Amino acid sequence: MSLNRRAFLKRVWWSGAALAAGTAAYATWVEPTRVQVSRLRVAVRGLPRAFDGLTIAQLSDLHRSHAVSAAYLNHCMDLTNALEPDLIALTGDYLTYILDFRVWLEPAVINDRKRAPELMRDVAACVGRARARFGVFACIGNHDRWYDAWAVAAALRGVGVTVLRDEHAIVRIHGEPLPVVGIDDPWSGWANMPRAFAGVDAPFALVLMHRPDFFEHWARRGSHLLLAGHTHGGQVKLPLIGPPVVSRYGRKYPHGLFRRDDVQMYVNRGLGVTPPAVRLNCPPEISFIRLEAA
Ligand SMILES: [Fe+2]
Repeated sequence: MSLNRRAFLKRVWWSGAALAAGTAAYATWVEPTRVQVSRLRVAVRGLPRAFDGLTIAQLSDLHRSHAVSAAYLNHCMDLTNALEPDLIALTGDYLTYILDFRVWLEPAVINDRKRAPELMRDVAACVGRARARFGVFACIGNHDRWYDAWAVAAALRGVGVTVLRDEHAIVRIHGEPLPVVGIDDPWSGWANMPRAFAGVDAPFALVLMHRPDFFEHWARRGSHLLLAGHTHGGQVKLPLIGPPVVSRYGRKYPHGLFRRDDVQMYVNRGLGVTPPAVRLNCPPEISFIRLEAA
């Protein structure tokens, strides 16, 4: 091999290594806190006039842990409050409480489990700062179930959040009742739809549920906007390949707005991360939704 060719290959190798190291550093230390506000208008058929223009800020998957600081979550809450939403929806996974093989990928997650009560106090302090004209509503995620859904719900209720566990609340907006329904985490053994909707008889309902998979077999009639999280958008989205498998139905509902007849679902990319604690081409998100009569 000529000297020139060897020097060229060496240069290519070092450039590739530098690019890989730079990408890894960006995915580890930059993108996980590069939160974006996604503004979208959702047109709803049969939306009562009183809800036309209603704004909802959705925050999901806070995952307070060694990898997600309280300062960062407070910054996200400042951004949310600056949007002056009418209503705030929190769609689960306030902590990281991992029980599977991933504890061996990052030993710090074992420590996160031990510190769960303290980390939950950070979340409650942050969420307690949320300001919305018609209130703050929350459902429970799978990590909350794995830790202690009752403790998570109590901590959130302690700071004024309405936690909906297979139940609903009626919010009066200009005299019109808006049912806000919260469905528990379906694949960890809970999710009682008849109970959550018992007595609800309105043309439109806002539904908070952690996992988007429920959309696949949503059978309830009427007009609904479902707000989900859980997928984190895949955390890493490679060009041409897309996100990895993100939920029970593979890559079907990774992020964004989905529609089937009068049922629409928005899947939020979340604020935090779970191991491996990286994000690439998939920044954290606050969704800011404005309802409009179709
Ligand atoms: Fe999550």
